[in-house]
Amino acid sequence: MKILNLVFHPNLNDSRVNKTWKTQLEESGKITTSRDMYAEYPDFQIDIEKEQALLKEHDRIVFQFPLYWYSVPPLLKKWLDDVLTYNFAYGSKGDKLKGKDMQLIVSVGGHQKFYSGFDLYATLPELLKPFQLTANLTQMNYLHPEWMYRADSAELETITTHGSKIAKSINDPKRSNARQYLNDSMSSEIDEVYKELEL
Ligand SMILES: Cc1cc2nc3c(=O)[nH]c(=O)nc-3n(C[C@H](O)[C@H](O)[C@H](O)COP(=O)(O)O)c2cc1C
Repeated sequence: MKILNLVFHPNLNDSRVNKTWKTQLEESGKITTSRDMYAEYPDFQIDIEKEQALLKEHDRIVFQFPLYWYSVPPLLKKWLDDVLTYNFAYGSKGDKLKGKDMQLIVSVGGHQKFYSGFDLYATLPELLKPFQLTANLTQMNYLHPEWMYRADSAELETITTHGSKIAKSINDPKRSNARQYLNDSMSSEIDEVYKELEL
């Protein structure tokens, strides 16, 4: 499986989480192509042909980014607007992404309780819904997204533990069926709790 990791962070050198995870994913040897998109396009002039060619060459497209204003960093929004064109990504002849996987990896500054979905709060899957709808329109498989809360205050060990978990399953073919994958990972987490409780 050929995996393309597109990292959208306005200043990756100052990042703790995304820089660490990008390196961990590269060191796993599972990523075919790994790119720092803000370094690639400091002037926001995206090379559409190059981006589309890269998309065609890979099977699993990863978008890695920090959550900014409950949304994405601006270059990622522009990349979506520029690259996912009519008759490439959608439209009567727009089937170039059909059958490919879309995986999101998101770092989140806030505490989990601010993403409970209760009252004024929205959950991460709700906030990321535009990607799920985009995957649907472009006939891609929307994989269960990965995210980590309290990204700014997390200890380095927590960041790397999370990064190892992401790297472990980044090329897992089972991820292509998000619902099944989520059910499996939930039941194995429950099994672990049972084991700890000696039940
Ligand atoms: C402009 C800006 C907007 C942000 N908006 C949010 C937000 O809406 N929700 C949130 O939980 N964290 C928000 N944060 C915190 C970032 O998500 C957090 O700093 C980032 O995930 C840490 O990752 P890094 O170490 O790779 O920079 C924001 C940070 C910045 C700079």
